[in-house]
Amino acid sequence: MNFWQTSRTPFFILAPMEDVTDTVFREVVLSVSDPSVLNVLFTEFTSVDGLLDERGHESVAQRLKVSASEQQLLRDRDTKLVAQIWGNEPEKFYRVAKFLTSLNLFDGVDINMGCPVKKVVKKNTCSALIQFPDLAKEIISATKEGSGLPVSVKTRIGFNTIATESWISHLLTCQLAAITIHGRTQKQLSEASANWDEIGKAVLLRNELSPSTKIIGNGDIESYMQGMDKINQYQLDGVMVGRGIFKNPWLFNTSESSVSREERLMLLQKHLELYAGFWGTDKNFQILKRFFKIYLNGFPGAGQLRAKLMETRHGNEAQSILEQELHLLPERA
Ligand SMILES: Cc1cc2nc3c(=O)[nH]c(=O)nc-3n(C[C@H](O)[C@H](O)[C@H](O)COP(=O)(O)O)c2cc1C
Repeated sequence: MNFWQTSRTPFFILAPMEDVTDTVFREVVLSVSDPSVLNVLFTEFTSVDGLLDERGHESVAQRLKVSASEQQLLRDRDTKLVAQIWGNEPEKFYRVAKFLTSLNLFDGVDINMGCPVKKVVKKNTCSALIQFPDLAKEIISATKEGSGLPVSVKTRIGFNTIATESWISHLLTCQLAAITIHGRTQKQLSEASANWDEIGKAVLLRNELSPSTKIIGNGDIESYMQGMDKINQYQLDGVMVGRGIFKNPWLFNTSESSVSREERLMLLQKHLELYAGFWGTDKNFQILKRFFKIYLNGFPGAGQLRAKLMETRHGNEAQSILEQELHLLPERA
């Protein structure tokens, strides 16, 4: 029995997002989420080629770092962390699955079969694997063989055209612990609305072909209630939220109806502190700037404050602007 089988359902999952869901952002989200809602988080996708390359290993392995404080939070809340990997050579998946198991940091291994961007599709990896079902199956088998952890797949409903019936049925013959389905084809990238009826079809296929595999729906969820509606409407085991967290970092918190300006500023402050403490100067400060918009919106003056912060060059500069703002708050209130 693995956590996909034993955890309370429904699953509410923070999606893997490159340059977003590092250990610091995950800890920030965990800190404001309801433990009875958010129960699984994913790492950024991590290349098996990079991990196994002597020269590339160190920088690629950053994506798999889990701070001591995040580990503690995960343990305290009984929340699970899944490492996501990508590539296209089964033998490398086998070796990386062994490595991930040996780290004792993760509760599961997920294979990316959904990323639509040109540079990975050109290498016949990620969503391109939808076009190579036999190779996809070999990759899954190799990962399962190397892994002491449950193996799942995150994918889309097709490559050029919708192929839910054939592609998801194929995956359902691989005895996966879970399949997350983003309701768009590769060709659609992030355009148009996610097709939840196709995700619903996958649930029916699962009931027939592999009843123990969990089906997680993904695409355009912007609130807890919207997630619950999809779960109920399509009889899903759970939902995964990606960009919704950009609009509301408190999305997994059911008791937080409106968030004050002060809370927003303080959460960004926490992010900056954790970032400086964990990454120091290992990561480019520019990457951090995309987070300003996540926290600083929905109050008067948010745009001006963001603009001011965008001009900073170091975390310290951003911190002192925030401190000034927080200091001014009582007078403004
Ligand atoms: C900035 C960004 C980075 C992403 N990186 C990954 C990734 O590393 N692995 C992955 O499987 N999907 C990745 N995705 C896709 C999301 O996990 C998710 O499937 C997609 O955004 C649709 O869900 P949403 O509508 O809730 O955002 C990324 C999406 C965004 C916006």
